[in-house]
Amino acid sequence: MWLKELDLFDWRNFHQDTLNLGEGLNYIHGPNGSGKTNLLEAAAYLAYARSFRKTSDKGLINSQAKAASIKGTFVFGTSSLTKTVEARLEDGAKQVKVDGKKVDTLSSFMGTILVSVFDPRDVFLFKGEPSERRKVMDETLSAISPNYLYSLQRYKKLLRERNQALAQRSDSEVLGVLTNELLASAYRITQERLGLVRFVDKTAPEYFQKLFGNGAKLSFKYRTNSSISDSLEIFRKEMLFQFERRKSQEAIRRATVIGPHLDDLSAYLDGNSLASYGSQGQNRLASLSLTLSLAALMKEKKGEAPILILDDVMSDLDGEKKKRLLDTIAPMGQSLISGNDKDLPESALSIGIQAGKVVHEKERD
Ligand SMILES: Nc1ncnc2c1ncn2[C@@H]1O[C@H](COP(=O)(O)OP(=O)(O)O)[C@@H](O)[C@H]1O
Ligand SMILES: [Mg+2]
Repeated sequence: MWLKELDLFDWRNFHQDTLNLGEGLNYIHGPNGSGKTNLLEAAAYLAYARSFRKTSDKGLINSQAKAASIKGTFVFGTSSLTKTVEARLEDGAKQVKVDGKKVDTLSSFMGTILVSVFDPRDVFLFKGEPSERRKVMDETLSAISPNYLYSLQRYKKLLRERNQALAQRSDSEVLGVLTNELLASAYRITQERLGLVRFVDKTAPEYFQKLFGNGAKLSFKYRTNSSISDSLEIFRKEMLFQFERRKSQEAIRRATVIGPHLDDLSAYLDGNSLASYGSQGQNRLASLSLTLSLAALMKEKKGEAPILILDDVMSDLDGEKKKRLLDTIAPMGQSLISGNDKDLPESALSIGIQAGKVVHEKERD
């Protein structure tokens, strides 16, 4: 799918602007602080109904305005069918509409628009907290599978209840009921994450090779203390055994010590931890490879190529790697890349930004 038109009203430092995009590579350039990331953030917001920069919705509204709204017109690859997605933010309330119809729940909306995002802070993805890596898995899987987000929301609710029961020293019967319910959601989450990591471990190293062109072998591992049996019956049995074994530990900690809320995704270079041994450049390209691999996963599962949103990805790459990146993403569908003026690729639709205004759009030959 691709984003054909993006309309912005009082979004961040934009007042009112319309952006027309191309089906292939779109390069958004301009001075620091002009609004390049704000623009990419708007495009990604239409897929996730939240900012990839961890900003509250209020921070997205122009500081001189009371409300913001954005609207995207998306074209779907195979059918050339179009869909509009609008988001309106006001007073801590948000409203999302698809083709003019209000969306009731996030889980019914997720997956309407597919994007895969690289944020410059992803350089620290593997050095940071496991929760960040779980979020990457969760966002991708929520976009792919309508049931995933439901299972995840249910798991989080039951986990809170189970932790409360442990804190209040509820009797073992209450705990047992909660454990049983928790396991049904835990099984689905674990299976889906396992599938994702298998796909990533197979494909991200190929992107890494294409980008780097050197011999280091990237690999990924799903780290979990849950059972990874694909039989629900065996999963339950193994998990109940673990819960029994760690009963006293849970009583002391008063918290659930087994389950997908503790999962992690680790990356390795030639078998060594990327987080501890990898250089900044290797970490950057490994995260970027992950972004591309997750895009490939979405395409495989949904039959529609997602939009690649790569914020400020060029400036830290040398000339050869820039070229490799552009060659790698060219066949993957639409991409929105931000960067400085001097990196503008020959093949890109050039979109200039200056102080919250789109200043020119022209097709380069
Ligand atoms: N809610 C807001 N209202 C007005 N301006 C904002 C708002 N949020 C951010 N900005 C402005 O946006 C600019 C940063 O835009 P950004 O997209 O991050 O720049 P860059 O082009 O470097 O990526 C800053 O000047 C900042 O003050
Ligand atoms: Mg920026």
